[in-house]
Amino acid sequence: MAQVSINMSAASFLVNPSASSVSFLLPIQEDLTAVEARMQDELSSEVQVISELAAHLLKAGGKRLRPAMVALSARAISLELTSERIATVGAAVEFVHMATLVHDDVVDNTAIRRGRPTANAVYGNGAAVLSGDSILARSMRLLAIDGDLRIIRTVSEITIEMSEGEVMEITATGCSDLPVAQYYDILRKKTAVFVEGCCRCGAILAGANSLQEEALAVFGFRIGMAFQIVDDLLDYTGDPALTGKPRGSDLRDGRATLPWLITLEEASSEEREALLSVFGRGDAGEEKLSQVYAILENHDAFSRSRAVAEGHIECARHSLSSLSPSPAVDCLCALSDYIVQRDR
Ligand code: IPE
Ligand code: IPE
Ligand code: MG
Ligand code: MG
Repeated sequence: MAQVSINMSAASFLVNPSASSVSFLLPIQEDLTAVEARMQDELSSEVQVISELAAHLLKAGGKRLRPAMVALSARAISLELTSERIATVGAAVEFVHMATLVHDDVVDNTAIRRGRPTANAVYGNGAAVLSGDSILARSMRLLAIDGDLRIIRTVSEITIEMSEGEVMEITATGCSDLPVAQYYDILRKKTAVFVEGCCRCGAILAGANSLQEEALAVFGFRIGMAFQIVDDLLDYTGDPALTGKPRGSDLRDGRATLPWLITLEEASSEEREALLSVFGRGDAGEEKLSQVYAILENHDAFSRSRAVAEGHIECARHSLSSLSPSPAVDCLCALSDYIVQRDR
């Protein structure tokens, strides 16, 4: 399968697709521009706070990974389709994502995302939650405009699973020795099923047969698992200037993620004591934090977590092998590499 070259600028192409001349998003540039325009058109409101908050979110950008998955999956099956329906459904899934992040930042009490103050930090929790609902409803309106019942059902189901995953995560907060199966279940629900659904929607839009649809859905699921594992890894190791998010918040907030779980399972009693002294402690000092990072490093927790993500990527790529070769399939392949190599 031909390799599409990607380099570090790939990430900025995801942030700003229009900046790319040659990238793995090239076959869907027109589609992504149409998604952006659709989102812009759909977010106005006569209520000033909602309009302002929506403009704030649109301006902050984001990788637009989910509409990209809709578009690339559709283009892997058909080039006949116009951008119109991809724009409608792509904007709908990005709105679900956007609303989720607005709600997630309230729940996680996060002040910075995408390098900017979060909606809750600027407008307060109440306005953020209710405006998030308004964005979610706009997603429903877009899906109704498109009118495909299977797409409506797919997006409804991913939204249900994702909110269940978020609630499961809250319930698990503070549990330092969360069973790893439970951690994976949260990932599956809150992220992987979402990305799977985006790929499925693209396949449905393009009139894929059931084998093609399943191949793309499995690809999306595996990409989603890898994406969230890397996201959890970046929470420990990422550069806040690149991720646009603060570092170490999972640890401070008492959320056990893969690097932590790998380490805790093997830790000596001395290490265990040091680890637990910072878990869920927002007030832990720098010295204690670096001690914990050193223990995680000693257990190779970061590279071992990355290896788990790479295993999912391998399965994702394998699933693509049943599709006919095309530039969009090559791009999905390149995108799968980006998922584990990304630094933001
Ligand atoms: C953040 O998603 C939430 C997770 C599923 C980890 P993204 O990393 O896709 O967020 P943006 O849209 O690019 O900011
Ligand atoms: C974001 O999850 C929301 C979903 C994935 C549903 P996280 O809380 O893990 O992600 P960040 O770190 O805030 O982006
Ligand atoms: Mg969060
Ligand atoms: Mg969260």
